[in-house]
Amino acid sequence: MQVAIIGSGYVGLVAAACLAEMGHHVICMDNDCEKIARLQHGEIPIHEEFLEELLERHLGRRLNFSSSMETAIRPAAIVFIAVGTPPADDGAADLSSVEAVARELAPHLNRYRLIVEKSTVPVFTGERIREVLLLNGARPENFDVASNPEFLREGTAVADFLYPDRIVVGTSSERAAKLLKELYAPLTQHYYNARKDAIPQPDNTHTPARIIFTSVKSAELIKHASNAFLATKISFANAVANVCECVGADVSEVMLGIGADSRISPRFLAPGIGYGGSCFPKDLAAFRTLAAECGYDFRLLDEVKRINEAQRTRFIRKVRRALWNLKNKRLAVWGLAFKGGTDDIRESPAVAVCASLLAEGCRLVAYDPAAMPRAAEVLVHPAMEFADSPLAAVKDADALLVLTDWEEFTALDMKEVASFMRYPILIDGRNLFDPEEASSAGFYYCSIGRSDVQPALCQFPQAS
Ligand code: UGA
Repeated sequence: MQVAIIGSGYVGLVAAACLAEMGHHVICMDNDCEKIARLQHGEIPIHEEFLEELLERHLGRRLNFSSSMETAIRPAAIVFIAVGTPPADDGAADLSSVEAVARELAPHLNRYRLIVEKSTVPVFTGERIREVLLLNGARPENFDVASNPEFLREGTAVADFLYPDRIVVGTSSERAAKLLKELYAPLTQHYYNARKDAIPQPDNTHTPARIIFTSVKSAELIKHASNAFLATKISFANAVANVCECVGADVSEVMLGIGADSRISPRFLAPGIGYGGSCFPKDLAAFRTLAAECGYDFRLLDEVKRINEAQRTRFIRKVRRALWNLKNKRLAVWGLAFKGGTDDIRESPAVAVCASLLAEGCRLVAYDPAAMPRAAEVLVHPAMEFADSPLAAVKDADALLVLTDWEEFTALDMKEVASFMRYPILIDGRNLFDPEEASSAGFYYCSIGRSDVQPALCQFPQAS
């Protein structure tokens, strides 16, 4: 099928590359001409596994970029709107870009096209897009508006797109439903997975994706409610971790026990310094504001946010407890991205913790496998340094803080790490390490929701 994608940000770009991979002909349009020129040369502005490979496979063939709306729309049967919806001052999503796209689109709708909202948008946006199209001269028989939210995670977005748990399609039009069914057939009928050159599935248990058809409003709510629920799960795990600390229980054991209930599932129950990123904080605020505007006081979401933010303060308290005075302490920091596997630092709790520690007079030496260039733009301080390896960061450090769950940190020889440090103190804000292993490597180890441990050599022999 012929597809146009308006917006070459994170969502638009991944969707464009994946739809081309599924066999469709895609033109991805953006009014940032410089960005489009770079994309036309295969330069990708984001760090995303498999994206480069997909661009290499399809650029100039099934996947093209353009800064002209006309060029993108002309051949398209389906037009995705994937422009940014940043938070406005009151927490609501700023939908001015979506409105501008709808205005610009209207004169091009000279025959039937399906307009699909892909950006994360609040309920009623579909209705608004429809109104704007009509006001700007589009004829009602020449379009339908559907909602098809994405559930991609940064870092695994390509695999998430090609092997989704579900595809949500909100529409009241049979014609629109048929078009989107056809578009996603390679994923719902398993064709894609059978291909020899398919991007590998994250695990082998994947079954064909299920399409869930709903009204436009329900689809819009599914996106916000999903993110709000996942954030709630994380805050719940963090709150339970705090109770574990009070009573001396182990949150990993507790989460193992509750996550084994298939009604709960073990995913998104990892406690730490809290969630961040460009989605959860923004979507929670937008959902909260929308609910209030519609007459429902969704106070649960305030508490989810409060618990999340308190995790950072609690973590800094742990650092203070381990080091006593913070002023002039040299702290190694592993991880700046809002989660492992990405260079994104938007709303990163790691960056927020660093900023607080700098304000307290600490000297920080940070290492992150991908996010350092971006972090260097915001953590501008005379006491902030960046190292070119995890080992260089810990040299002569008074303590090591783990702030992002990068898998590659777990592959390091922690005895060697301890030997580089002034004091072998490890404060793990992501529960990335096993307490016993950290202790055997010679660390004083503090984590989230688990008891602190001493270095193995310091422990008194157990009475037999
Ligand atoms: C999230 C959702 O998971 C996607 O389904 C959704 O499409 C996306 O937002 C979006 O709306 O665009 P993402 O922001 O990429 O994806 O990141 P997640 O993997 O969900 O992680 C979010 C934050 O929660 C990270 O800071 C992560 O470290 C934290 N987290 C996650 C925890 O603290 N504990 C967990 O158990 C899981």
